[in-house]
Amino acid sequence: MTDTKKSIHGEWSSRLAFILAATGSAVGLGNIWKFPYITGENGGGAFVLVYLLCIAFIGIPIMIAETMLGRRGRQSPINTMETLAAEAEADTNWHYVGWMGVIAGFLILSYYSVIAGWASAYVLKAFTGSFSGTGATEIKALFDGFVANPAQLIFWHTLFMLATMLIVARGVRSGLEKAVQFLMPGLFVLMILLVGYAMTTGAYEQGLEFLFSPDFSKITGDSVLTAMGHAFFTLSLGMGAIMVYGSYLPKDVSITKTVFLIAGSDTIVALLAGIAIFPIVFANGLEAGSGPGLIFQTLPIAFGNMSGGWLFGILFFVMLVFAALTSSISLIEPAVTWLVENRDLDRQQACIWAGLVTWLLGLGTVFSFNLWSDFTIFGRNIFQLMDYLTANLLLPIGGFLVAVFAGWIMKQQHSEQELQIPGTQGYQVWKFLVCYVSPAAVFLVFLNVVGVI
Ligand code: TRP
Repeated sequence: MTDTKKSIHGEWSSRLAFILAATGSAVGLGNIWKFPYITGENGGGAFVLVYLLCIAFIGIPIMIAETMLGRRGRQSPINTMETLAAEAEADTNWHYVGWMGVIAGFLILSYYSVIAGWASAYVLKAFTGSFSGTGATEIKALFDGFVANPAQLIFWHTLFMLATMLIVARGVRSGLEKAVQFLMPGLFVLMILLVGYAMTTGAYEQGLEFLFSPDFSKITGDSVLTAMGHAFFTLSLGMGAIMVYGSYLPKDVSITKTVFLIAGSDTIVALLAGIAIFPIVFANGLEAGSGPGLIFQTLPIAFGNMSGGWLFGILFFVMLVFAALTSSISLIEPAVTWLVENRDLDRQQACIWAGLVTWLLGLGTVFSFNLWSDFTIFGRNIFQLMDYLTANLLLPIGGFLVAVFAGWIMKQQHSEQELQIPGTQGYQVWKFLVCYVSPAAVFLVFLNVVGVI
């Protein structure tokens, strides 16, 4: 039925365009800001190992599944799930998976935009030479002073949301494809450069050891959940973003090869960020577990002290903002496509509504770093709550349901048709992972966290 069907929202111009967009969605603050700080908070090596296992056995199979569902359904995640459920003669309640995704997207973007705002502010700080010749103490004071000021955070959060809305309003093809084309190589080169600086700090080996020699005594049920949640977060899985991007994917493209490429580059960027940051942490006697400010308290030290650091600092934060933009647009795209399909809005109006809701929600995160920092629910401030609710709960649940749907509900002949590898060993392996391994792993981690096992 879907052979000739195309999405009403457009289609990628080529396989490369999809790779770029999906990589753009995957590579973002998750890799450069979040991965290092949660690795620091969860004790290093063992956490990294669990994260890598989750990417391989949960993330990649589910990413293949999610792309495949998107390409077959060719609509917003909500309507895609409904159509595919009908095609499989299953309960149309499956469209709640799409709903959950839309909600998760709003919640994630609300804090994502605030942090991307920090990165934007740091472009200006880099430009005005705020880092030059400074040490760890000044850099930390600079960061603490910055986040204590709600007006500043709101200003940058607003700017970032506006930029996101502008790009999304223009549609998937124009702008987006081009932005990623120069962004990814540029980011990669700068990460290598920072690793070069890390080698000169005298704590390079200590950093590597922290990242790659696992100490399993530091692993708890919660840190396994965080690692698994981050595998979903960093690959943009479990909320329909990749499903929407898959819906713009031309028919003749190999989903499996493409997914391996995207997941591979995403993982490399995250590891490079870790390799660059931890030597700076140890060389300056900083705290690895210092939280969401980690990159803002470490990388400026590098820029302030390396030759050419002024220029590299500007370039780095500019690229970080762009990397965040190519991710943020995928967080809002599922909601926008749904508003266009079902609420009779045009793309511009849909963007304004979705953007406004997200912006308002984001104020909660802004204030959790200053005015409301003492306000906690279950021991977490609003930012931490948003993060926990999405990365550790909604995304894994969404991913679990995607795996179950692709593995158990969808007719085998349909998944074979989409993946174009019917009956091969590759198909068998994927099917086994998506039917048993990935859902069971998610389930077991949840059971462990709630204390059943
Ligand atoms: N993957 C992005 C990052 O690492 C964040 C992101 C974009 C995301 N789209 C998503 C996370 C969808 C979860 C779901 O920064």
